Amino acid sequence: MCGIVGYVGSRNAAPIIVDGLRKLEYRGYDSAGIAIHDGKGIEIVRALGKLVKLSDALEKRPLNGTTGIGHTRWATHGRPSEVNAHPHAAGPVAVVHNGIIENHVAVRAELEGQGIKFLSDTDTEIIAHLIHRELDQGAPNLFEAVRKALGRVVGAYAIAVVSRAEPDVVVAARFGSPLVVGIGEDEMLCGSDVTALLSHTRNMVFLEDGDVVELKQNGYRIETVNGTAVDRKVKRIDWSAVQAEKAGFKHFMLKEIHEQPDAIEATLRGRIDLQNGDVHAGEMGVTPEFAKTLGRVYFVACGTSHHATIAGRYWIEKIARVPSVTELASEVRYRDPIFFPNDLVVAVSQSGETADTIAAVKAAKAAGAQVLALSNVLDSALPRMADGALYTHAGPEIGVASTKCFTTQLAALLLLAIYLGRQRGALSKEQGQEILQALWETPSHMREVLGDADYMHVIAKKLTHAKDVLFLGRGLGFPIALEGALKLKEISYAHAEGYAAGEMKHGPIALIDENLPVFVICPRDSHYDKTLSNMQEVRAREGQVIAIATKGDEAVMELAQHMVWLPKVNDDVLPLLTVLPLQLISYYVANLKGNDVDQPRNLAKTVTVE
Ligand code: G6P
Repeated sequence: MCGIVGYVGSRNAAPIIVDGLRKLEYRGYDSAGIAIHDGKGIEIVRALGKLVKLSDALEKRPLNGTTGIGHTRWATHGRPSEVNAHPHAAGPVAVVHNGIIENHVAVRAELEGQGIKFLSDTDTEIIAHLIHRELDQGAPNLFEAVRKALGRVVGAYAIAVVSRAEPDVVVAARFGSPLVVGIGEDEMLCGSDVTALLSHTRNMVFLEDGDVVELKQNGYRIETVNGTAVDRKVKRIDWSAVQAEKAGFKHFMLKEIHEQPDAIEATLRGRIDLQNGDVHAGEMGVTPEFAKTLGRVYFVACGTSHHATIAGRYWIEKIARVPSVTELASEVRYRDPIFFPNDLVVAVSQSGETADTIAAVKAAKAAGAQVLALSNVLDSALPRMADGALYTHAGPEIGVASTKCFTTQLAALLLLAIYLGRQRGALSKEQGQEILQALWETPSHMREVLGDADYMHVIAKKLTHAKDVLFLGRGLGFPIALEGALKLKEISYAHAEGYAAGEMKHGPIALIDENLPVFVICPRDSHYDKTLSNMQEVRAREGQVIAIATKGDEAVMELAQHMVWLPKVNDDVLPLLTVLPLQLISYYVANLKGNDVDQPRNLAKTVTVE
C-alpha cells in the first residue's frame, strides 16, 4: 500500500503534492519522491524514510513547475532505499505506482532482452519502460501510450504519469488500487484517497477499475484501458479532513476491519496456481526438496500473531501432514528449546520487529534450523534474518489492536500449508484446488459478513456493562476464541477469556451464570456436534450465548440469545470469517464505552523490548 498524488494547474505543484502526501503517509512511509515538470523537462527528487526527508531534500533543491506527481512508499518489491523510491523514470516519462504487478518478472525479462537497463528492484519500473516503448513506437500522446502499456500489465495498480513532451498533462489509471480525481478551479488533482485532495476541492470522481484519465488544467477525460470513453459521476465530499484520513470511518481500527477483503486479495495476488491446485513459493526460500524432507514446522510468535500460528499448526498437520508445534516466542527464548536442522521455523510477526520473536529466531538459527519469516513489513528485522520471507501485503495497520494483519496472516499460513502439502504429496491437485478456490472466494464472503456490522453494534450494546466474557471454540474455532477474547480485552478493558470448548468442563464452567456472556464459535464444521453440546451445557447453567454459526442453523437458533450468521464455506477458510464479528463487536463495545480505540491504554503496536 502506497500513496500517490498528481497535480496540474496554475500553482506551484511541489508544495501541493507534498501536502497531499502528508495526508497519505498512513499508507506507508518507507520513502517518498516527487517529479515536477519545470517547463523544460522533468526533475525528480526522492528520499529514503519519512516524508520529512523529502521535504528536507526539496529545501536544498526546490522544484518549480505547475505539473507533477508524488509518492509515499510502503515497500512490496525491492527494499526501502532511494533507488527503489518512486517516481521511476524511463526516457521522457516518470511514474508513481501503488499496487503489485504480478507479471513483472516476465515483462522485465522481455524488456531486458530488448536491451533495456533497469535501475531499481521494483515491479513499478516495468510500467515506466512499457510507456516509454509505446511512445517510441508511435503512440500519439502520453494518454494513448499509458492505455496501451497497461494492456501488458497484470496485477493491481493506481498510477500517475508525467512526460517531458506534455508539460501540462498528468495521466492516471487504476485497477484494483484506489484512485480519486479532484476537480479544482483551474486545476486538476488525483490521489489515493480524498484526504490528499480535500484542501483544494470537494468535487471528486472515484475512478473504477480499468479507467485511464487524462488531467489538464481545465478538464479531464476518462477512457477504459480498451479505449471506450466513459463518464463517471462527480461526487461532492463533505467530510472533515480528520474523517477523510480514516476514509470516513471513526477510527483506523474500524477502517482496517473493513479493509480486510481487499487485504486478503493482496495477500493472495500472484500466489495461487489454481490450475495445479498449488501455490507459488515466491521468496519463501522453501525448496520442493526441503519441503519433502522437513521434519517439523515450528512456529514462534507473540500476541495476535501467536493466535494465527495456532490455526497455522492445525493446517500444517491436516493439509501437509507434517508434525507442527507453536510456541510463544517469549517462552521459547528463555527455555532451552530443541530445534533440529530439518525443522522449518516459521516466525510470524506483523511488524517483523518484535524483540521476543527475534530472540527465538536467533536460538533457532544457532541450532541450524531453516527460518521463514511471515511478516507484513518488507525488509524488517525478521525477514532480514530469515532464510526466506512470506509477506502478507496487508498495508500499514495503524490501530494498535491487530485486525487485517491477523486475517492476512491466516491466509498466508493456509497458502504455506497448501504449498507444503502439494510438494509432499499429502494433498492432491483436486484437494488443493478446492481449498484455493474457497480462499479465492473468501474476500466476497468477508464482505457479506461485514455487511452485518449494524447487527454487531446491537449485540455490542448488550455487552457494555459485562465485566467478564467467555469465548469458546474448537479446532480452527479455538484460536478465534483466543483472538476474540484478546480483542475485547485490549480495547474495551473487559476481562475476557478464550478457551478450547472441550476444556470448559475443566474450569470455566464454574463461572457460568445468567450474567456471563459466552461467545460460542459453532459453524457447521467437523467439530459442530461437540461444540453444540458445549453450548447446551452453557445454556443449562443460564449463560447468555452469542453464537457465531452457519446461516439457517435451527439447532443453534434454539439455544442462543443472539446469532451471527456466516455463509456456508469450506472448513479451512472459516477462521477468516468467524473472527470478523468478534472484531466488530469488540470495536463497538470499546467505542460505546468511549475508549481510545486506536491507542488503547498501556499497549504498543510494536514491542521491541522484552
Ligand atoms: C503487540 C501488538 C499486537 C501484536 C503483538 C505481536 O502486542 O499490540 O497486536 O499481535 O505485539 O506483534 P508482531 O508485530 O510480532 O505481530
